[in-house]
Amino acid sequence: MNSKWQHFYQKTYQERLALIAEAADLTAKEVNQLATQNSPANNQLIENFVSDYPLPSGVATNLVINGKTYLVPMVTEEPSVIAAASNGSQMLAVNGISARVISRLIDGQIILKGANFDQLETFVTANRQQLFEVANQSHPSVLKHGGGAQRVAIRKLSTQFTSIDLSVDPGEAMGANLVNTMLEAVSGWLKDQLAVNVTMAILTNFAADSLVTVSGLVSFEQLAKGSLSGKAVAQRIADASQVAQLDPRRATTHNKGIMNGIDAAAVAFGNDWRAIESAVHAYAARSGQYRGLSQWQVSDRGLAGKLTLPIPIGFVGGATSVFPLAKINQRIAKLTSAGEEMQLLAAIGLAQNLAALKALVTEGIQRGHMSLQLKSLAMANGATESELPQVVAELKKVAHASAGDVKQILKQLRR
Ligand code: HMG
Repeated sequence: MNSKWQHFYQKTYQERLALIAEAADLTAKEVNQLATQNSPANNQLIENFVSDYPLPSGVATNLVINGKTYLVPMVTEEPSVIAAASNGSQMLAVNGISARVISRLIDGQIILKGANFDQLETFVTANRQQLFEVANQSHPSVLKHGGGAQRVAIRKLSTQFTSIDLSVDPGEAMGANLVNTMLEAVSGWLKDQLAVNVTMAILTNFAADSLVTVSGLVSFEQLAKGSLSGKAVAQRIADASQVAQLDPRRATTHNKGIMNGIDAAAVAFGNDWRAIESAVHAYAARSGQYRGLSQWQVSDRGLAGKLTLPIPIGFVGGATSVFPLAKINQRIAKLTSAGEEMQLLAAIGLAQNLAALKALVTEGIQRGHMSLQLKSLAMANGATESELPQVVAELKKVAHASAGDVKQILKQLRR
């Protein structure tokens, strides 16, 4: 290994930056850009820190859940996501979205190798309360907040491997550290009691015990577009939803549209979006086939949509406490609990999905999305902030705007 990189993490920030600049042959301007976006808090948060990486943060409007109107902070680099979230929320706002947390537990597993399954099952069943006590005592503060170990189950994975599944109420926290501490304590206890061979003890991101469900009804009037009646658009959206049940290729894109909203808001609130992503996609494949998460159906009163999915998040702890912006975003949304945040994330996913599907089955995605994308196209090809309005106005006149068009327009403008 190149010794230059050994103990890289022990070097000062300036030493690290100098090494990277040399290795990557960065210009003085590039080094300066990295160095000026250097917040001391982020330097402590991750290892081998180089620079802050700012992403745009905005708010979606019009979201109404259980009678309460929300502003939804969203962090995303993708144009049209916030517009679409606001658009979908507006269509759903007339009747409002109903939301309900089905369950809010975090699960973990202790994997054992070569254990006698029957003996283990008998032991766990007979000593359930003591097992909960060992778990809770390893993290007593969870009891103060009303949480704690709730359930234990045992599953035979193969002739060799067994999983002991522990479910924990994490209170208002996400609970990842909490459940991992508990699992390691229970593992130690099991080793003492039964001399078992523990392969590992870790939470599962298969968050089927952290489920939330949202539903909404859109009137036909809200859906009419151009020459298409609201009823016709509703039927097309229901068809699109059905295709996402049939075809994993379409389901993947359908769900990406939902996650456009959920991820952007989850990041804004300082949550672990990888945990949400893995939970959501595993849930989408729970029947053995990957399917669309939302379903839309035409009824007499309009288009009815429903979305049930796992949202494993916390309202306190982790990055939610470290990033001042995460706290401000919780305040912008006027959130008071993890359960309410789960409802909001699912609702923005449903709204996002509705807007995307409506665009897809009517005018196509490109008109709305691309007209907002033109700004990034212009910026990516050298337009300055003051040139943007004129460049975008010119690009709108072009059928399929490209980098070449931006360069041509800029050449004209700068003459
Ligand atoms: P429109 O029909 O031109 O909008 O839609 P409108 O002028 O009728 O406005 C309706 C509302 O939308 C507005 O209400 C705003 O709330 C919002 P108002 O405030 O005027 O009373 N809105 C905006 N908000 C902020 N900035 C804007 C803006 N424009 C409207 N500029 C729109 C235009 C782009 C919203 C529409 O075409 C749309 O929703 N398209 C979907 C875009 C989308 O889904 N983008 C995500 C990227 S594509 C993708 O990744 C997912 C996908 O592949 C998923 C899938 O396949 O299922 C599509």
